[in-house]
Amino acid sequence: MLINRFLLVLVLAPVLCLFGCGPGRDTSDKPAAAAPAAGGGDEADYDLAALLAQADTKRGRTLFLQCRACHSLGEGEPHKVGPNLYQMFGKTAGVEPGFAFSDALVNSGIVWSPETLDPWMARPSEYLPGNKMVFIGIKDAQDRANLIAYLQEATAPQP
Ligand code: HEC
Repeated sequence: MLINRFLLVLVLAPVLCLFGCGPGRDTSDKPAAAAPAAGGGDEADYDLAALLAQADTKRGRTLFLQCRACHSLGEGEPHKVGPNLYQMFGKTAGVEPGFAFSDALVNSGIVWSPETLDPWMARPSEYLPGNKMVFIGIKDAQDRANLIAYLQEATAPQP
């Protein structure tokens, strides 16, 4: 009898969760993925500015190892699988000369800033469907901020 009750709970738990957990999650996920070129207007449940203020650029540098196979950062460095990112902040997406960008990126109207880079790095394929950057994304918002802070330093003109 005990076993029966246990089994019932096992069966019921996922079913209840369909009602209890499912919809809440779905509705909060969808708006965040919409409106790619809006300049980061999605209502995230964290404060990017606050995460940037406490960002750890050393950690960001380590996180950049995930990007380094495809991106150089310094002035005049060659493109790799992805474009050179020197002075990318404030720049319109897809304009670097000598790199064959996707139409999706060229036509996106994105201007790179912490606010646009954050959702791009979270899940590029969702932020801008049809782009050709093959990268799964960085889940942790603080890690994205760490990496953004590092990129702000590393893509700026060096003294
Ligand atoms: C497997 C290779 C690859 C990896 C890894 C990768 N990228 Fe890219 N990246 C690309 C490609 C290819 C493009 C061009 C996309 C397009 O044209 O649609 C791109 C484009 C970009 C752009 C837009 C540049 C512009 O001039 O508009 C940014 C910003 C960027 N990547 C940042 C990053 C960051 C940050 C990481 C690490 C978290 C990363 N990428 C990881 C290949 C990669």
